[in-house]
Amino acid sequence: QLSVLHKFKGILFSTASSRELLDSLDSFDAREDDVFLVSYPKSGTHWVAEVIENIPNAKITITSPIELGDISKFDELKTYSKRRVIPTHLSYDMLPVDIKQKQCKVIYIIRNPKDTAVSLFHYYRDNPNLPYIETWAEFLELFLRGDVVYGSWFDHVLSWEEHKNDNVLIIFYEEMKKDFFKSLKKITTFLDMHVNDSEINNIAWKTSFSEMKNNTVKESHDPNHTICALTSERNLVFRKGVVGDWINYFTSKQKRVFDELFTEKMKHSELARRLKEYS
Ligand code: A3P
Repeated sequence: QLSVLHKFKGILFSTASSRELLDSLDSFDAREDDVFLVSYPKSGTHWVAEVIENIPNAKITITSPIELGDISKFDELKTYSKRRVIPTHLSYDMLPVDIKQKQCKVIYIIRNPKDTAVSLFHYYRDNPNLPYIETWAEFLELFLRGDVVYGSWFDHVLSWEEHKNDNVLIIFYEEMKKDFFKSLKKITTFLDMHVNDSEINNIAWKTSFSEMKNNTVKESHDPNHTICALTSERNLVFRKGVVGDWINYFTSKQKRVFDELFTEKMKHSELARRLKEYS
């Protein structure tokens, strides 16, 4: 079952991300107006993508993830004439160098790691592109060791936090839930886009959890609408869509172990302090 994943530079990737593609990421030609939609898996990427797609007159195309596919990827990405919004779960270190040089805009989505872990646990169990994991306890150990797809949550977040002043907008899943309009405003301002009140309300409705979940039933499988390199089956994505589901999974001992590692790993992190306020 492990054959659905492979290791590249010490990090686990789906075999849908070919070694050749991962090896040639630095040959990617960025455009100055590219926007990158970056996240650790299960942080709310599909949600933010849907928000951007529903901004009227945005004049953008959401592409499939930069790390999904083989070396024909970059030719595919060249075919888009509109401004590209390119999703990725790559950590900062693996991001193609041209994106850094051109200082392309990045939206980084972050979610409290306990909920992210629970969400990823279900993804492992439901998604045929990930190995099946028997128990939550077993999965949590892998998660804490960073022995899961895209590596350690802590390292991912820290790699991006270090570059938060390089044209990076940070969006918190929890803030989107609590104050959607505030997050939407941040996104449109960052992208120099304008929305009026009725458009805002329409976006809020169209991107609500229930609406998005219902639409997957209608849309079924659309490989041209792949936001996460781990699946093009959108019906695998919409599970619960709430803040705080971790409480139903963590034992008090698991919470203590998790919190200790969090405190240790994130001791210099400003983002970690903000996450604590939200969860
Ligand atoms: P849960 O598994 O906790 O339900 P990603 O898009 O990065 O793969 O993240 C998936 C997570 O975001 C899932 O979390 C999913 O339910 C949640 N999600 C997706 N769309 C959402 C929405 N419109 N509102 C709230 N949560 C949403």
